Amino acid sequence: MKVGILGSGDVAKALAGGFIKHGHQVMLGSRDAGKLKDFVAQHRGALTGSFADAAKFGEAVVLAVKGTVALQALEVAGAGNLANKPVIDATNPIADAPPANGVLKFFTGLDQSLMERLQAALPAARFVKAFNSVGNAAMVNPQFKGGKPTMFICGNDDNAKATVRGILDQFGWETADMGKAEAARAIEPLCMLWCIPGFLRNDWFHAFKLLQRE
Ligand SMILES: NC(=O)c1ccc[n+]([C@@H]2O[C@H](COP(=O)([O-])OP(=O)(O)OC[C@H]3O[C@@H](n4cnc5c(N)ncnc54)[C@H](OP(=O)(O)O)[C@@H]3O)[C@@H](O)[C@H]2O)c1
Repeated sequence: MKVGILGSGDVAKALAGGFIKHGHQVMLGSRDAGKLKDFVAQHRGALTGSFADAAKFGEAVVLAVKGTVALQALEVAGAGNLANKPVIDATNPIADAPPANGVLKFFTGLDQSLMERLQAALPAARFVKAFNSVGNAAMVNPQFKGGKPTMFICGNDDNAKATVRGILDQFGWETADMGKAEAARAIEPLCMLWCIPGFLRNDWFHAFKLLQRE
């Protein structure tokens, strides 16, 4: 599959590395593709371009930019370039204010998630929340003593979610589909919980697992 990745940060690079490892083609998009020079040198076949180039390139697109500018980045990428495509939304609505006792501040409330805002602004794109509730170091085929971790996903389009489930299978995750876009109100704050051990104890390697009845 051709995957366009909007972003040049740790998440964009971790996921791009995972897609390449699993035989997909990737293009990373940035306002300054030059900053991906080292990544390209280390990953044969990785392409770079603008946000619009990456969105156009992808049969599926990953959104991996700072939450406060997510909408802006999507607008620059172009609604037309994202129409009818799965858009894997890894962002979190982290506010610029510092955490309080290790608890991040969000610029959204409990009754509206960032992904719902993005979905409302770009109705033809098929947003699927995923990869937001784990650190970039554990996104691709993580090894945990307790076995496969669980990725919570949600989104309005079942075909887009099936695509994301296939990617998560390759990346070594169990998928827990929490339903429509509104479920992002619960999935985005998992990031707050995930980060607390990091801020309090410098422990940044863990993941959630949903235990189910046999
Ligand atoms: N770090 C993690 O382990 C982790 C884990 C799960 C989820 N997340 C979420 O994933 C997202 C990406 O996180 P990250 O740590 O990789 O990077 P980040 O530092 O949060 O974001 C970097 C990206 O944001 C873009 N950006 C910044 N200001 C911009 C602007 N004014 N207009 C357009 N784009 C702008 C940058 O674009 P340019 O390339 O143009 O500079 C860059 O690609 C965030 O929403 C974060 O909350 C992070």
